[in-house]
Amino acid sequence: MERGIVMLREGGLRVRIETHRQYSERDVDFFAWVVAQVPWRGGERVLDVGCGNGAYLPYYAAHTRDIVAMDISAEMLAAARKRGVPGVRFLQGDATALPFPAGTFDLLFANHVLFFVRDIDRALEEARRVLRPGGLFVATTNTEDSQQALYALHARALHRVGRIARPLPHARFSLQNGAERVKALFGQVEVRRHQNAFLFPDVNAAMRYYLSGPINEVVGPPLNAEERRLVIEEVRDRIARIIERDGVWRVPKDAGVLLARKEG
Ligand SMILES: C[S@@+](CC[C@H](N)C(=O)[O-])C[C@H]1O[C@@H](n2cnc3c(N)ncnc32)[C@H](O)[C@@H]1O
Repeated sequence: MERGIVMLREGGLRVRIETHRQYSERDVDFFAWVVAQVPWRGGERVLDVGCGNGAYLPYYAAHTRDIVAMDISAEMLAAARKRGVPGVRFLQGDATALPFPAGTFDLLFANHVLFFVRDIDRALEEARRVLRPGGLFVATTNTEDSQQALYALHARALHRVGRIARPLPHARFSLQNGAERVKALFGQVEVRRHQNAFLFPDVNAAMRYYLSGPINEVVGPPLNAEERRLVIEEVRDRIARIIERDGVWRVPKDAGVLLARKEG
């Protein structure tokens, strides 16, 4: 499925990051966990492709002051810059055309970004090209069934207004099929899984997350005002009933990291 260039809004990303922090079953800092998967020596040259609002930057900065943070969206870059993390250079650009000579970086991170990119294999080739021999590629993504419970409610609600849900956004580059693509290019890949779930104690928290992005996963034109009203009503009602019955809504959301070293 082709998606074209997806412009994510910084406000939506912020809500999703906050929701993960506030409503996860396991109180583990995912960003810290990802960065801890890397055997740092200190002083590495790092490229963060699709850096978003820069949530990972403080974690890299604990190891190095030689970081390039790149994103296709100027809005995301502005938010990332506001964090004031030392040792970071910001750059607007596309993952499929990295403006660097071959062999520039020791480490390249592509965190929850590759499933948004139109030509994923091209982005992977570019990542490999700009890594030095022996450099490490690190990509985070979700497992293929991550947040399935949420997207199933979304699909049912859309069906009621005669609309069709798009496949889960991360399905294009999940921990499973992403590993196959990375292995095909790098010759090896290591997969490390991070199990977790949302535990929503009230409907408003779940709806805030839903409205921050998942509601837009619809085939064809965006929902019109009436469709949107009905879909929201339906999803809210179903979540409220689950919480009334179970006391909480549990949504498994496993994610993980793919690690691959460029042959040196
Ligand atoms: C889900 S956010 C992840 C942000 C950050 N890496 C994180 O994990 O918090 C995906 C980011 O990828 C960016 N993006 C999407 N397509 C891109 C592309 N082709 N090249 C570079 N960045 C892209 C979006 O603008 C967005 O900031």
